[in-house]
Amino acid sequence: LFPFIYYENGKLKIDGISVEELARKYGTPLYVYSQSALEHWFKEFDSAFSSIEHITCFAVKSNSNISVLKVLKELGAGADTVSMGEIFRALTAGIDPKKIVFAGVGKRIDEIEYGLEKGILMFNVESESELYAINRVAEKLGKVAPIAFRVNPDVNPKTHPYISTGLKTSKFGIAYEGAIELYKKAKNLKNINPIGIHFHIGSQITDVSVFGEAARKIKEIVKELYSVGIEIEYFDAGGGLGISYNPNEPPVPARALADEIIPIIKDLGCKLILEPGRRLAGNAGILLSQVIYKKERHEKLFYIVDAGMNDLARPSLYKAYHHIVPASKKEGNLKKADVVGPICETGDILAEDRELPPLNEGDIIAVLSAGAYGFTMASNYNSRPRPAEVIAKEGRAEIIRQRETLGDLISKEEIF
Ligand code: LLP
Repeated sequence: LFPFIYYENGKLKIDGISVEELARKYGTPLYVYSQSALEHWFKEFDSAFSSIEHITCFAVKSNSNISVLKVLKELGAGADTVSMGEIFRALTAGIDPKKIVFAGVGKRIDEIEYGLEKGILMFNVESESELYAINRVAEKLGKVAPIAFRVNPDVNPKTHPYISTGLKTSKFGIAYEGAIELYKKAKNLKNINPIGIHFHIGSQITDVSVFGEAARKIKEIVKELYSVGIEIEYFDAGGGLGISYNPNEPPVPARALADEIIPIIKDLGCKLILEPGRRLAGNAGILLSQVIYKKERHEKLFYIVDAGMNDLARPSLYKAYHHIVPASKKEGNLKKADVVGPICETGDILAEDRELPPLNEGDIIAVLSAGAYGFTMASNYNSRPRPAEVIAKEGRAEIIRQRETLGDLISKEEIF
């Protein structure tokens, strides 16, 4: 289906282990990641950029389990973070602070302090007010803050509106037109060192030409900055390269992205930073769930499964398509069905009107492409303990996050 996720003798396997065995051992719902697949996707991406000095900073928001971060760190990954919590996770996984970038429109003072104390590579600044806030904090700590501005290049990434971030009307980044002025202001601040430039235009992008369009616009700024004596060392092209959510369609090769960006920036002499999240983790993970009940009504067939929108939010939040396959290959004709979760919301749907083989109560299903924005977006809604996470590698499995317990649900609460 995807690298390291395949059928063998009718049984679905991930990185050498049968998913039914994992479901039996660890229960459902269960997130399972393939270490080999993570390595595969990292190498596919990172090696595409081997002709230029670069850092592949994994977007921690897509999958922040510290074991996953550690696997990527071993291959040389840095981290793209958006909170103190994500920086903490990246450092805990052993990622070098000099490979950590920190973005986000609403960095709090304590978060800025934390980043400065830990000595991260740079702050990707999203407003003039934030620039002054960072300068004040750096002055107080007796440090100089390395920064990049996140510049909004105003290009349309042609993806879902909720994950388009580089349009003029979006809340992210600073305006393209005012960028040079802001760099000059930054240069004059005692405790700020502008060393980079950043853009990120959206997520799940499959038309790579939009990256070229954005990179060309940003390059114009860099050239102008050079002419006024502001040296840009890091060119951060963000994340956003899409994956295939359908195993029958091949993904855009990472090479295509590299071929789009490298020729544009190579004469600038900058180091390139990339922030892929989904691309590295998305198709390295699956969500296992069990069919609890089967219900046939008004000629509509429902499979009610034990994973809900609290476990995997993407289908209900974005109407995202996630391919669903049974753990054991099934005989019989495909039938249209809705796969729904147990949450008390009409929108708690994993798949609508989906052609599926006949399933029975007790069957295990796998929701594919769930390694990115899966567990990280899970919640305790309906007071459901969040799922466990397991990593598989060549036939062995390790638990990397325990299933939450009833006690965990109320552990921070008090009866007064
Ligand atoms: N860099 C920045 C500044 C970002 O805001 C993001 C994602 C990334 C990198 C990584 O983007 P990726 O390579 O993963 O596309 N929850 C949504 C996705 C939100 C993405 C937000 N920013 C989803 O499930 O589709």
